[in-house]
Amino acid sequence: MAIPFPPLGALTVDRFLSQYWQKKPVLIRGLFGNWTCPISPEELLALAAREDADSRLILTGSEPVELYHGPFEDGELGDLPETEWTVLVQEVDRLDPRVAELLGWFRFLPNWRLDDIMVSYAAPGGGVGAHTDRYDVFLVQGHGRRRWEIETTPRHDPVWREDSEVAQLASFHPDESWVLEPGDVLYLPPMIPHNGVALEPCLTLSVGCRAPSTSEMLSGILAYVAEEGSDEDRHTDPDLEPDGDPGRIRPEVLASLRSRIRSAMADDEALDRWIARYVTEPVRGHSGPPPRRWIPPATIRRRLEAGAVLVPSVRSQVAWVDHAEAGITLYASGQAYAVRSGGPALAALLAGSEPIDAARAAGPMNDPVQSELITSLVNAGVLALRGA
Ligand code: SIN
Ligand code: CO
Repeated sequence: MAIPFPPLGALTVDRFLSQYWQKKPVLIRGLFGNWTCPISPEELLALAAREDADSRLILTGSEPVELYHGPFEDGELGDLPETEWTVLVQEVDRLDPRVAELLGWFRFLPNWRLDDIMVSYAAPGGGVGAHTDRYDVFLVQGHGRRRWEIETTPRHDPVWREDSEVAQLASFHPDESWVLEPGDVLYLPPMIPHNGVALEPCLTLSVGCRAPSTSEMLSGILAYVAEEGSDEDRHTDPDLEPDGDPGRIRPEVLASLRSRIRSAMADDEALDRWIARYVTEPVRGHSGPPPRRWIPPATIRRRLEAGAVLVPSVRSQVAWVDHAEAGITLYASGQAYAVRSGGPALAALLAGSEPIDAARAAGPMNDPVQSELITSLVNAGVLALRGA
């Protein structure tokens, strides 16, 4: 599937980022002009049977709706009613490289800002109900038609129905509505109330973003700092003087404890290293690279020469940082890899959107340090050899 240039068509990336991104919804009609959706409804239902897939079935015909979690064994999805149900599978980009290619259209966003591609199949009348999402989403219509209704004003404090197992808004008053056809894309910033109902059997791909919350990061960084720190690093007061009021915690004691807490977080580079690992870590339990394997550099070279390409196995989880002390470091699935040779050009190649073919890989594979890094990325499952 060739990625058009500019990737957002007539809208252009500049106009999208300045006028819509994180600001307001936009419908991009026919963005994927002569596009054929890379996955069929049957293939999606087959994925919903896999142990390593995160899948859900929602029956919308009952009130309140019924929610079931996969994996759904063969046949379990065979006897469903004609209407009013939907099956949703998270991280289909990880399970199907053809779907992962779709991420190539969104490379105007930083890798780490993208999460996954969730794919849903809905029978007529099916959908997940009106809700808000905490993250930006591009809703790409794959097969069939779907009516999307939205409230154009974000709701930062949504009130949820208490009787539903599925997060559904207690009230919904749409002020915009569109029927999406295959190839149409609806972008929604966070917290925009939306509801998509299938008009006919339909498949929707949701390209979802991620954005760490401060409290999420704080709980992670505090656990990390606590683990790294020493239990012996403790308050001392050899100059303690008598104070007529033993019930009082003196201001200078508070200041000293405050400064202990702050100095534990004062190392910017350590924070940056933690952040880069955190934002490239898999969001869900199922994700992350496949188990380690051993493919020697000679095999990688041979496969590349035979026409294979290297692609990131989970693209949204590869990023790099140029640290003042640690130097250029590649982060993938929460792990750090030092880029000791090859500089920013190699880091950008390894974290980039272009598949790495024999011609691109030739220089790095002829440098022992760079080829060792590429080999360890392949063996860790961060880079996958595709084709040939
Ligand atoms: C769906 O595909 O049914 C739901 C997608 C969404 O609303 O984010
Ligand atoms: Co949504």
